Amino acid sequence: MDGLIFENKNSLVRSSDLEKTKRKLSLELTKIKEGILKKEHGYDAVNIPFNTKESDRVSELIKAKQTLNIAAVVVVGIGGSNLGTIAVHEALNGKFHNQKEKIKIFFADTTDSDSIYDIKVFIEHILKSEKNIILNLISKSGNTTESIANFEVLLEVLKKHRKDFAKYVIVTTDKGSQLEQTAIKEHFEILNIPNTVGGRYSVMTPAGLFPLGMIGIDIKKLLKGARYITDKCLSKDIQKNPSAQSAIDMFCNHREGKSIHDLFIFSNDMESVGKWYRQLLAESTGKKYTKSGIKVNEGMTPTVSIGSTDLHSMAQLYLGGPEDKFTTFVKVLPIQKEKIPKFKEYEPLVGGISGKKLSDVMDAIFAGTKLAFIKGKKPFNQITLEKNEYSLGQYMQYEMIKVIIFSHLINVNAFDQPAVEEYKEETRKILNK
Ligand code: PA5
Repeated sequence: MDGLIFENKNSLVRSSDLEKTKRKLSLELTKIKEGILKKEHGYDAVNIPFNTKESDRVSELIKAKQTLNIAAVVVVGIGGSNLGTIAVHEALNGKFHNQKEKIKIFFADTTDSDSIYDIKVFIEHILKSEKNIILNLISKSGNTTESIANFEVLLEVLKKHRKDFAKYVIVTTDKGSQLEQTAIKEHFEILNIPNTVGGRYSVMTPAGLFPLGMIGIDIKKLLKGARYITDKCLSKDIQKNPSAQSAIDMFCNHREGKSIHDLFIFSNDMESVGKWYRQLLAESTGKKYTKSGIKVNEGMTPTVSIGSTDLHSMAQLYLGGPEDKFTTFVKVLPIQKEKIPKFKEYEPLVGGISGKKLSDVMDAIFAGTKLAFIKGKKPFNQITLEKNEYSLGQYMQYEMIKVIIFSHLINVNAFDQPAVEEYKEETRKILNK
C-alpha cells in the first residue's frame, strides 16, 4: 500500500448536489491554488513540506542536541503548538512510549498545577542524574498565558540544576515576537514558525518537526508523505482528489442538517490524531461571520470516536439517535500480528475467534459497524492508513487541504480564530487587575 486510500461510496450525496458542488468547487480550487502559489497568509501552510532548507536546519539542531545525553524532551505549548506533535508522536510511538524508550517526551499545556508538578518531579529526577532534558517552549504569538506560565515553572527547575541551562532550551515562535526578543537576550536557540502559517496548520513547521525528530520520528518521511499527496489534493480532477471529495461529502451532508463530523478511528494510538483534527475543523469552520461579513454562526462540530472502544459507549446514539452526524471511518493497519490462542475452555464463550489474529477480529468489527451504518442509512466515508511517517504525513496534509476546501465551500475564513483571541484577551485583563 502506498499510503492513504479514500473511499466514499456510502456518503449518500445526491448526484444533483454533487454536480452543483463540483462546479462551485472548481472555482474555489483556483482561488486556493492561487493563495498557495502567492504564499498568502494561511494558504502558505500547504507549501511547508516543500521547504527542505528549514527542515534541514531543524535536523542539524536535533543532531547537535542529541549529543547532550538527553533523557527527556518537555514540550511547553498548547493548541496548535502541541496537538500536532502529540498526534504524530502517539500514532507512531504508541501511548506507552515513555515506559519503553530512551528519550521520553512530556507535554505541558494547560496550567494544571498537579500535572505540571508531576512533570517537575520527573525532570528534577533526571537532572539529579548525569542526564539532561530539552525544554522546548512553543508559542507562535509568544504571549499565551498557559505556555509562558508553565515554561517559567519548568525553567526554574532547569536553572536550579544546570548553570549552563541556556543550551537545553529551544524557543519556537514567530519571527519578531516579543518572546523571540526575550529568547535572544537569554541566549536560547530559536526556531521560527513562518508568520504566514497558523498554529493549527503548523505541525510540519519547526513547531512539530523539532520535538518529533528529537524522539526519533523520521521527519523527512513525514514531509515526503505530505509532499507526495499535495498535488492530488489540489487536483481539479475531483474523482482523483481525496480532499475535494471528502470536502464535498461534508458540505452536502452539512447542508442536509448533519452538523457533527465524527472521526471514527479504529486505532487506540491514533486518538490524539483525532484531537488534532478536532482543533483543525473546529477553529477553521466555527465562525460567526462569512468572509463577506454576513452573520451565519457557521461550523461543523468535530467529535472523535475510537473503534472498537466507543462502539460500547456511543454506538447506540450514533445508530439510534438524531440524524445529525456525518462519519469518517479511519481504518489503520496495525504493525503487530497478535494471535488469539486456541484454548478449548474459552471456545464456547465467543465463537469464531480461536486461532485468529486480533486484527481479523478488528476487521470483522469494522465491517459489522459499517454494515449497521449502511442499514441505518447513516452517511460515511472512509480513509485507510498505514502506521508510518509517510502515510501519516499524507493523511495530515490531506486533512489540512480538505479543511481549507470545506471552509471555502461554506464561505468562512479557514485561518483566523477571533473567538480564541477573545478569551485570551479577557484572561489577560483578569490577571492584570
Ligand atoms: O490555532 C490557534 O491559533 C490556537 O489554538 C493556538 O495554537 C493556541 O492558542 C496557542 O497559541 P500560541 O502558539 O500563540 O501560544
